[in-house]
Amino acid sequence: MGLYIGVDIGGTKVLAAEVTAKGEVARTARRTTPGRRVEVALVEDALTEAVLEVADGRRIDGVGLAAAGFVDGDGERVMFAPHLPWRGDPTRSRLEARWGTRVVLDNDANCAARAELALGSAAGVRDALLVTMGTGIGGAVVLGGTLLRGRNGMAGEFGHMQVVPDGLPCECGGTGCWEQYSSGNALVRYVRARIDRPEHEDSLLDDLCGGDPATLNGPMVTKAAEAGDRLALKAFAKIGEWLGIGLANLVAAIDPELLVIGGGVSAAGDLLLGPARAALEGSLVGAAHRTVPPVVRAAFGPEAGVVGAAAMARSGY
Ligand code: BGC
Ligand code: NA
Ligand code: ZN
Repeated sequence: MGLYIGVDIGGTKVLAAEVTAKGEVARTARRTTPGRRVEVALVEDALTEAVLEVADGRRIDGVGLAAAGFVDGDGERVMFAPHLPWRGDPTRSRLEARWGTRVVLDNDANCAARAELALGSAAGVRDALLVTMGTGIGGAVVLGGTLLRGRNGMAGEFGHMQVVPDGLPCECGGTGCWEQYSSGNALVRYVRARIDRPEHEDSLLDDLCGGDPATLNGPMVTKAAEAGDRLALKAFAKIGEWLGIGLANLVAAIDPELLVIGGGVSAAGDLLLGPARAALEGSLVGAAHRTVPPVVRAAFGPEAGVVGAAAMARSGY
């Protein structure tokens, strides 16, 4: 038993959740991420509020932090985060002192992979890749049933592989990164750039954003696509295609048994995964001569990060 809380800190939102030993989400709290050019303290305040709201006065036995950034190999610091202000801050120990309870830290996609490996769609799988589609793209590499950390603890940063030389600028400081073409941000950018065209005059998205494209977000595009909106479907077809192309490169490198897709954008299910599978088949080297790995949704969906983070708090980093 005990109260274990997982906190997922993304570029857009903070989700804190009480998670049971079986991986069930019992109680949640949400905050908006204050931004990436703000004081670190503001982000930590938002985390604190969300954690205290979930605890609701109860004693906390441990908190697992799933951070959208490059966490060092010891799980102590967020060394760099394209969408958050942390730059080598001792996040784990600072929040442990602030909250007076044990805190463990890992990259958000790694946390999602922990959940999927232990209790989800990658259970029993030896070699798998996990890709989370949120504000950006997160990644995790599972080899022989364990998470690959790499020299710096930074293995699996798939989102910043360059897919377009001299392409779109990325929050990481680079250009042409995969997450600029396939992510929640990419989905919204696609729609914003086209919503004013005459052929999309009657798009549902116009109503959903109250006529102001600046307020468009990923969930709105998902909702519109589910209702059959042409522009929203085209947006998913495009970012799904980019997803599949990136996956083909990863499969060429690792040859895994399974590809698991998580993060907020994965809530769209086959609207995203259908085009991704087609592009994977189409661009994977030797596709006709090999078993192409299935592309499945994370069993814990967008909650995989908090579930994995809480499980890590329960079992130790
Ligand atoms: C960051 C990753 C993170 C991912 C998803 C990327 O931009 O570099 O560390 O896992 O976004 O949040
Ligand atoms: Na990762
Ligand atoms: Zn980048």
